[in-house]
Amino acid sequence: MKPGEKDAASLEQLSAGFATLFGGRPDGIWAAPGRVNLMGEHTDYNEGFVLPFALRNSARVAVALRPSGPARLRVASLQGADPAGTGQTALAGEIAEVDLDRLEPADVVPWARYLAGVIWALQQRGHHVPGVDVLLDSDVPSGAGLSSSAAIECAVALALDELLDAGIDREELVLVCQQAENDFVGAPTGILDQSASLLGTAGHALFLDCRSRLSRQVPLDLAAESLVLLVIDTKVVHAHESGGYKDLVAACARGAAGLGVPALRDVGLERLVEAAEVLDAATFARVRHIVTENQRVLDTVAALETGGPRTIGPFLDASHASMRDDFGISCVELDAAVEAAQQAGAFGARMTGGGFGGSAIALVDVAAAEAVGTAVRERFAAEGYRPPDIFAVQPGAGARRRTTQA
Ligand code: GLA
Repeated sequence: MKPGEKDAASLEQLSAGFATLFGGRPDGIWAAPGRVNLMGEHTDYNEGFVLPFALRNSARVAVALRPSGPARLRVASLQGADPAGTGQTALAGEIAEVDLDRLEPADVVPWARYLAGVIWALQQRGHHVPGVDVLLDSDVPSGAGLSSSAAIECAVALALDELLDAGIDREELVLVCQQAENDFVGAPTGILDQSASLLGTAGHALFLDCRSRLSRQVPLDLAAESLVLLVIDTKVVHAHESGGYKDLVAACARGAAGLGVPALRDVGLERLVEAAEVLDAATFARVRHIVTENQRVLDTVAALETGGPRTIGPFLDASHASMRDDFGISCVELDAAVEAAQQAGAFGARMTGGGFGGSAIALVDVAAAEAVGTAVRERFAAEGYRPPDIFAVQPGAGARRRTTQA
């Protein structure tokens, strides 16, 4: 089977599954990808710069409105779904039902909150959402720091925008999804993940200014340079609704307040000496990561545009060191993955995403990919860590409507 046919078969399966569970064909199928962030971690909620790209792995939703029925969301997943990485999975084919007239997070099973949250955010903007049935499928690994949850939000948001004829543009849909995640799910995240999923284009990374929300597509053709970007999923699961992520958001806000700026975006490298005097040591370390990371995004974009992807390795390495030493979001498994990849000849490597687990990325020559993968696996075995999942990724297309035709 060719890849296009395989894809069409899986969409057909989703459509057929929808008919079995809910009766009738869906109104359509929408897909939204997960993401890898090439550079710019935790800079988004500091109004700084990020450089993610959309993956080819995506969440897919088959959706039908039920305008004449009760205003209820009925949602099921084709396989066990655990977008929050909490271990509270949906059972395949189990239907969760929620009353849309008074949506409360506490009334929604955790895995379905990303979906329900998007409906809630649309309601907050004055859109009336009638009864709706959703069947979900996804091949974005969950809990791996690849934004499986944002992929679900974006797929549902795009579907509902079209079905309700709401006329919301993609930049605004990013904010709808962020509101769902911040205020319904309860994770105080920025706009990185949803922007990559909704605005990404194949063969490009997305250079985004999270303050102005202006973005630019930066060519990233790894294959043309005989390069691959390996994702190393450490299998250490994170959750941003709790703990560490919130503390970091607070630390950054403290740092900005201490320096008298609206956001750490406004602090340049030249103010770090002063920052070290004004702030306590722990807050200063957090601030230094954000300030240097913003600069690394600019440097990476410039390097990609002038020297090509082979020249960005040192920025990847420096970013990892900064997240490990200054921001405190790495873990021993991520450090081992990065170090083993570097020692086996990667051009550069870093953890990607929110941290506390999830995945690392390593930029390697096609010819060295096998050896780097083996080196990482051997290091994990030697340390007694769970075997990692290692796979190559390329920048794929952003969220879109799909058809079941090959
Ligand atoms: C998570 C959040 C993003 C961003 C990253 C860290 O993925 O959802 O908004 O803050 O962490 O860069």
